[in-house]
Amino acid sequence: MIIKPIKIGGLKLKNNLFLSPMAGITNSAFRIFCLEGGAGLVASEMVSASSLKYASKKSFEMLKVLPSEHPIAVQIFGSDPEIMANAAVHAEACGADIVDINASCPVKKILRSGSGSMLMKNPRLMADIITAIKKKIKVPLTIKFRVGFTDKENLSVELAHIAEESGADAIAVHGRPVSRMHNGEIDLEFLHKTASRVKVPVIGNGGIVSAKTAKEMLEAGCDAVSIGRAAVGNPRIFSEIIAELNGKAPEYTGDLDKVKMLNRFIILNSELYGEIYGVIRARKLVGYWLKGLKGGAELRKRFMFAKNLNEAKTLLLQYIEKGIL
Ligand SMILES: Cc1cc2nc3c(=O)[nH]c(=O)nc-3n(C[C@H](O)[C@H](O)[C@H](O)COP(=O)(O)O)c2cc1C
Repeated sequence: MIIKPIKIGGLKLKNNLFLSPMAGITNSAFRIFCLEGGAGLVASEMVSASSLKYASKKSFEMLKVLPSEHPIAVQIFGSDPEIMANAAVHAEACGADIVDINASCPVKKILRSGSGSMLMKNPRLMADIITAIKKKIKVPLTIKFRVGFTDKENLSVELAHIAEESGADAIAVHGRPVSRMHNGEIDLEFLHKTASRVKVPVIGNGGIVSAKTAKEMLEAGCDAVSIGRAAVGNPRIFSEIIAELNGKAPEYTGDLDKVKMLNRFIILNSELYGEIYGVIRARKLVGYWLKGLKGGAELRKRFMFAKNLNEAKTLLLQYIEKGIL
């Protein structure tokens, strides 16, 4: 059985298929849908440790955890051990079951601040951040980095060792180098070598779109895997993969079911964040949800003109009733 319960630090998780953190996507509404869809662990968007230090209202909003979204890893980013440790304390106080350090973000602005994947170039600082956070929180601590910075360069094996020695309870590794951003091949060999180097669980990530790709990464030695973009627009991918890997036929998600789920998703976003935000967010993500659906392109085009929640819902209901626009 490659899909199985797993423990990170003292935290028991029902399975080893997780949601990967995604800025602008993995908010409360989406996390609730992914947990309903079978994810063993969900993740927040990355939250700036410095912004928490300066009491940014928006960043504190991002730390909010609802009772229905456990277990959750809250991800923080920054480059100062003390500021990161204080951010971790806030995350724990807000309900994080795990605190996760972002050492994988390839975005230039983040790199310029010495955070994200820049930590991979400074293992001493990375270790100091882990040590400082471990002293201040009781929940497990994880860190996410990449296999390397450029093609064929490997840093993750040594970084994983350092992270484990410093006290990390699990290590997530995105199998693409920083230079490839979010595209390109996954280096399963580097993931295998990383997982062999440490005793703590290694969570592989990158390019999982099906039971086959999840299986390949787990068979490469990863204890768990996390799914990013393939879950956007299909939060049921977790239970679909679990069913298939357990020898059951994958649950078919019909077009109507998907549109009904999108309708619920928009309503939940609006309830949680207000109508305007709910519709804006839906516009941003609707392409993912409607991809490949019969009449999906037309529905998406019309959706872009929906001015409020009512118009958006009416459009979706029309599709649900008629099966087409
Ligand atoms: C829109 C977007 C936002 C992301 N934001 C984050 C983030 O906040 N923290 C993080 O560690 N990774 C972030 N990632 C990277 C994902 O967690 C994941 O590592 C990456 O998408 C590869 O996985 P996938 O191939 O399954 O999508 C982001 C990716 C995307 C596409």
